[in-house]
Amino acid sequence: MNSILKINNLNLSYGQQTVLKNINLNINKGEITSIIGPSGCGKSTLLKCLNNIILENPEAVVQGSITFNDKELSSFNLEDLRKSIGMVFQQSTLFPLSIYKNLEYALKYYGVKAVERKDIIENTLKITGLYDELNSLLKKSALKLSGGQAQRLCIARALTINPEILLLDEPCSSLDIINTKKIEDLLLSLKDKYTIIIVTHNLSQAKRISDKTVFMYDGEVIEENSTFKLFNNPEHSLTSDYVSGNIG
Ligand SMILES: Nc1ncnc2c1ncn2[C@@H]1O[C@H](COP(=O)(O)OP(=O)(O)OP(=O)(O)O)[C@@H](O)[C@H]1O
Ligand SMILES: [Mg+2]
Repeated sequence: MNSILKINNLNLSYGQQTVLKNINLNINKGEITSIIGPSGCGKSTLLKCLNNIILENPEAVVQGSITFNDKELSSFNLEDLRKSIGMVFQQSTLFPLSIYKNLEYALKYYGVKAVERKDIIENTLKITGLYDELNSLLKKSALKLSGGQAQRLCIARALTINPEILLLDEPCSSLDIINTKKIEDLLLSLKDKYTIIIVTHNLSQAKRISDKTVFMYDGEVIEENSTFKLFNNPEHSLTSDYVSGNIG
């Protein structure tokens, strides 16, 4: 399997607190990888390391190596990296602009011409299944969308610039079952084209959508395995305790 990201001996601390402890992990291209584990175990912090957004926090001391397509992350400039590795957060981060302008934002930033922008936006709405729902509303404020639509628009917005990897930090945690299912279906439809890494508290979600699952506990990766094996026949007793609900 082709690893698009390789994380080697990654350690991270905030001041005296060590938050990531010697993380070693390979992320396979074209798969959905879920990261699970109790609150505070370092899932979001690990995700933030994968596109160097962590560097915006001066308190974070990072050691170790992460490669993206076999090149050290530190050798990319941040703009190129953000273009190649998109991110979607727990709460919708839409700008107080029209739906169209939200979708246009990164394209403009990266200098894509207006005629091309229009085509890309239309195509992105289609591949994310939002075209029928939103095409007649493109001039409306994005802030008027429902929570589910807003999160799907955040995913669409991240895809306009055609990243290779999409990082998602609990994108469904404030959504109901129906909207969660829409996001899950969307992610499954995208996985042939994009590598997806999703942090989720929802173990059933990890089971439903991911090829591989990574279980973290107290800053360490305890187990990474095929999702089926991790949930049905885990190698570590801690994983077993977590997936069976004995620890949380
Ligand atoms: N900016 C920061 N400054 C200092 N400590 C931080 C910062 N961000 C996170 N931490 C600490 O790092 C640890 C890991 O936090 P992180 O947000 O990565 O956990 P998490 O697994 O995503 O938790 P949750 O499931 O609640 O989102 C926690 O102890 C947290 O308090
Ligand atoms: Mg988190």
